Amino acid sequence: EINRLYEVVEKLKKKELKVTKRKTLISLNPISRLNNEIHSLVSKKQKEIKQLKKLELYRREFLADVSHELKTPIFAAQGYIHTLLDGAVDDLEVRDKFLRKAAKSLDSLNKLVQDLLTLSKMEAGVLKITLEPIDFAELVRNAFEKYEQMAIQHTVTLDFIDETNGNAWINADAYRMLLAISNLIENGIKYGKENGHVEALLQRRGGMLFFEIKDDGIGIPSEHIDRIFERFYRIDRSRTKERGGSGLGLSIVKQILKLHQVDIQVKSKPKKGTIFSFEIQTIAPPAEKPNSLNALNNTAS
Ligand SMILES: Nc1ncnc2c1ncn2[C@@H]1O[C@H](COP(=O)(O)OP(=O)(O)OP(=O)(O)O)[C@@H](O)[C@H]1O
Ligand SMILES: [Mg+2]
Repeated sequence: EINRLYEVVEKLKKKELKVTKRKTLISLNPISRLNNEIHSLVSKKQKEIKQLKKLELYRREFLADVSHELKTPIFAAQGYIHTLLDGAVDDLEVRDKFLRKAAKSLDSLNKLVQDLLTLSKMEAGVLKITLEPIDFAELVRNAFEKYEQMAIQHTVTLDFIDETNGNAWINADAYRMLLAISNLIENGIKYGKENGHVEALLQRRGGMLFFEIKDDGIGIPSEHIDRIFERFYRIDRSRTKERGGSGLGLSIVKQILKLHQVDIQVKSKPKKGTIFSFEIQTIAPPAEKPNSLNALNNTAS
């Protein structure tokens, strides 16, 4: 038994932490018990180290992703501005075009940084949501209104089927919830097809409110379904390039819903379309109608 103890210690010295599992025979022999103790301690540490290594890898990948994503809009804006400074500014038409392009790049840089901040605050648990009674049907209508122009540009029609008869009250953080629904609508339009449809459905199901948003666009291949909620995950980087996303939208949606104790589901078929859905607890309509959504119209972009 003492020899076995030495074996383990030797392995530890050589950082060969893969100590083989041994039968934990109930033993009265104190040295054997000590040996067992060491074994279980080592395997616990082994697990911790594995976990830490995984986190470290995750952190490094994240940093690489962030830098890469930041580079794209910065380089673009830089290019336009330098070209202008090098003389292109004299041509009025070129000047206008390049300034607009530089501004667009800086806008997407701004969105990226905002998204990153929101995400990291939510993941760190710093961002606290403020729950208040909101009319979810009104929130969805608000979100759809924001996307009318974009839908026209993409020749996509937006529909909202509200089957709740004005009975769609929930406790939620109005601003964040609007952000989540907006991201889902935006994806429906962006990854929709020409002359396609994006349709939202709202129903009461017992004490719950059921929300679904469906498009008939390009869909998501099954091997990607589990990953689309990861930060920076995009199915086809070259394909999304023209659509200009960074892959943060759905991770923000997931985090926001998680803060509301809500789990989001996704069903999709390539070339057929995608459905995102969730259920959230309803509340009794408040006696007096709060006006948080009116305030939203002025603050939300
Ligand atoms: N409705 C949808 N139909 C088809 N594919 C989708 C749909 N929604 C999301 N996806 C796929 O999942 C990926 C991740 O979506 P997500 O919203 O997180 O990122 P994004 O739209 O690329 O960028 P961002 O939302 O940050 O502007 C997308 O790149 C797209 O490939
Ligand atoms: Mg998106």
